[in-house]
Amino acid sequence: MPLAIYGKRKNSTGLEFGHRETLEKLMSNIRRGDAAIAATPLIPGVSATGAEMAVLSPSDHSHKVGSVRDATAADVDKAFAIAAKGFKSWSRRPVEERAVTLERMADLMEENRDRLLVLLSAEAGKTLDDGVAEIREAVDFCRYYAAEARRQFGTITKMPGPTGEDNRYLWRGRGVFACISPWNFPLAIFLGQVSAALAAGNAVIAKPAPQTPLIAFEAVKLFHQAGIPQDALLFVPGGPEVGSAITAHPALGGVAFTGSTKTAWAINRALAAKDGPIVPLIAETGGLNAMIVDATALSEQVADDVILSAFRSAGQRCSALRLLFLQEDVAEHMTRMIEGAAKELQLGDPSLETTDVGPIIDDKQKAMLEAHITDMQKTQKVRYAGKAPAGGSFFAPHIVELDKASALTKEVFGPVLHIVKWKAKDLPKVLEDIQSSGYGLTLGVHSRIEATIRTVTDALDTGNVYVNRNMIGAVVGTQPFGGSGLSGTGFKAGGPAYLLRFALEQVISVNT
Ligand code: NAD
Ligand code: ALA
Repeated sequence: MPLAIYGKRKNSTGLEFGHRETLEKLMSNIRRGDAAIAATPLIPGVSATGAEMAVLSPSDHSHKVGSVRDATAADVDKAFAIAAKGFKSWSRRPVEERAVTLERMADLMEENRDRLLVLLSAEAGKTLDDGVAEIREAVDFCRYYAAEARRQFGTITKMPGPTGEDNRYLWRGRGVFACISPWNFPLAIFLGQVSAALAAGNAVIAKPAPQTPLIAFEAVKLFHQAGIPQDALLFVPGGPEVGSAITAHPALGGVAFTGSTKTAWAINRALAAKDGPIVPLIAETGGLNAMIVDATALSEQVADDVILSAFRSAGQRCSALRLLFLQEDVAEHMTRMIEGAAKELQLGDPSLETTDVGPIIDDKQKAMLEAHITDMQKTQKVRYAGKAPAGGSFFAPHIVELDKASALTKEVFGPVLHIVKWKAKDLPKVLEDIQSSGYGLTLGVHSRIEATIRTVTDALDTGNVYVNRNMIGAVVGTQPFGGSGLSGTGFKAGGPAYLLRFALEQVISVNT
């Protein structure tokens, strides 16, 4: 977060792994493991009745990280009834009080960083680098939205008007907001949605992904400890059925959803099918993200940025590079460098500081990736297939050479890089291929020619464009993040327009 703009608050802190004592303390926490968390719905007055299900670590299926009891349809009803009351009092609290509470949450996450890191590693298979970055992002979201709430909602604006009339313009919360999140950023995205909705004065029903309920449960408990009232933030764990019950509910005031494009369509349809108030949907979805590399690019830099963009987090980032366009003249040389670098990646236990690539979230995702490679083998050339360790849901990096860009039509959510060659005269066709995918999340460009960079950036309206660098890891308040088309409804998380989407304008005109 750029502090010059956002005043007195400090930046989220990092961890120096090169510092032996820091690392040893962290490793001993990780070895000690977590205190078998038993997550349940957090709905005042409701005790969990759902069956207890084990949550196993994706890197070691014999490690039970904890358990979860999902909410039932009746719990969802009760949650809405309680949240409607919670909304009345939370939305009337001064903006300053809401902001300070979010800042307290940020501080609490930093105080509990080691414990959150252990959970991110055990439950979501995050490497240490990814875990630290995710906690920092979550902390930044809280501080940024606190600052944005002060800036945008902190004062009532007096509008110009005729003598004898007082026109006041203000913002209010929308009501009970549903926050539905994915497993790939089980803390940062979960918390980004929730903190934005709370900052704008809404009550929140928070549904985490069914693969990662434990870290979300811990985050909600920290929110309550920070001072968010229990009736203003309710934890409602479960899968798509619980999600559907939430989006079908008549008392719903808005939905913040992050996940696949397919689920966004389903939610959009569910909202459209309801009578009653028209419910806004904020959807942040998938990408078929491309990088264009021309013959002037620096090959070492390209290799490094491609490896990071395609394989970091085991490719389980919506921003990750899926389709690499290499100019023909340098394609073979660069592909060999990328292949060589991919071979160097260390796969395995995400809690070891030496691990570059951790597991895939579960065996279902792993099977989807295996099926994709089997499919590609029929018509395309699989250039590199890494070797996955046994014992968990591991899938090693793969590199597939395509004969044409249109051989890849959907987001493949994992460490699979597709490469396609292009001739210098065919840049317009490359741009057309990218545009015609319908997605618009991230785009990379590597070139030393200003005119090429301008041509590419002018032609495409992709949400986040990265030139001569990697294309992942958007920073809150610096690179507001989000896409359009099949990638989402636009307006960016961690950006100055985001909170407004969670709020309602009101104008009060008084004849004085
Ligand atoms: P998913 O769509 O399967 O699930 C996301 C959430 O929606 C989960 O909580 C799930 O339980 C819930 N859900 C599923 N069906 C539902 C329904 N019918 N009604 C209501 N809720 C329902 O996505 P995932 O597999 O958890 O996450 C991976 C996807 O998320 C990828 O496509 C990735 O690109 C995308 N993603 C996008 C962003 C972004 O900012 N654009 C960030 C991270 C992930
Ligand atoms: N915001 C995440 C990134 O930029 C998804 O990688």
